[in-house]
Amino acid sequence: MEIDRRAFIATLGGTAAVSLMDSEAKAEALEHYMEEQLDEQAAAAQGQAPQNPTVAELEAQIETRNYRRGVGNLFVGGQGGKVKRLEPMPKKPTLQDFFRLRFQPANHVLQSATRAMKTGMTEEVILACLLHDVVQSMIKVDHGWWGAQMFEPYIPEKSTFAIRYHAALRFFPDSDAGYEYPDLYYRIFGQDYQPPEYIAATYKMVRNHKWYMEPRLVTVNDLYAFDPNAKVSIEPFTDIIGRHFKSPKEGLGNDNSPSAHMWRTLANPDAPL
Ligand SMILES: [Fe+2]
Ligand SMILES: [Fe+2]
Repeated sequence: MEIDRRAFIATLGGTAAVSLMDSEAKAEALEHYMEEQLDEQAAAAQGQAPQNPTVAELEAQIETRNYRRGVGNLFVGGQGGKVKRLEPMPKKPTLQDFFRLRFQPANHVLQSATRAMKTGMTEEVILACLLHDVVQSMIKVDHGWWGAQMFEPYIPEKSTFAIRYHAALRFFPDSDAGYEYPDLYYRIFGQDYQPPEYIAATYKMVRNHKWYMEPRLVTVNDLYAFDPNAKVSIEPFTDIIGRHFKSPKEGLGNDNSPSAHMWRTLANPDAPL
């Protein structure tokens, strides 16, 4: 198989990231890359273009549901089923407690952060990857902004920036950085979807920002973090959390920070008012 060296290096986060990898990690990454290329070629050879809905078709589905698509995972039963009773949070909950009891399954973010770590990205980016989507337990609409706001009091500014803007950057490919528009989005948003004006304007601003690569790298890792069989855990990130996450001594939700109410909402999603 022909390997596009430039594209491959870009998927790993560029030459700087590659230089930090040991030879075993490089070999593994190459194998993974080739497998993906092979899958793509096989799908193309079969000529099976997946049927993607249009924006109008997706809109027509709105009234077929008893929930809205932007609702947080904790607030709606899986596949139209009933919600489950939640285990109460400890008195002084930590980030790890929220991962265990409210963000489950956090598989996607753990895969994403694992890849960031393996490819030698900075600790700020690894942390951002670890946290980038967990607010979707509470709300999915504009999850970049919601997530950034929730974590802002506790994490480095660069990580907040990465979380806030990854969601806007998702819609704009950057092949030099190794990010292509995900096929999945044709299905989720519709084949003729155009991001709203505020997303396009945000992208433009971030594209020219000195921290552009922080959210961009979150989107790069995002592409490779949907393996249903991946075995991941939060353990490898304990040190990074310890170094960069300012855990309040009162526990998350009890510290009167500007986002404490969000943590309480996640802790008590059954509160009626
Ligand atoms: Fe996201
Ligand atoms: Fe994601």
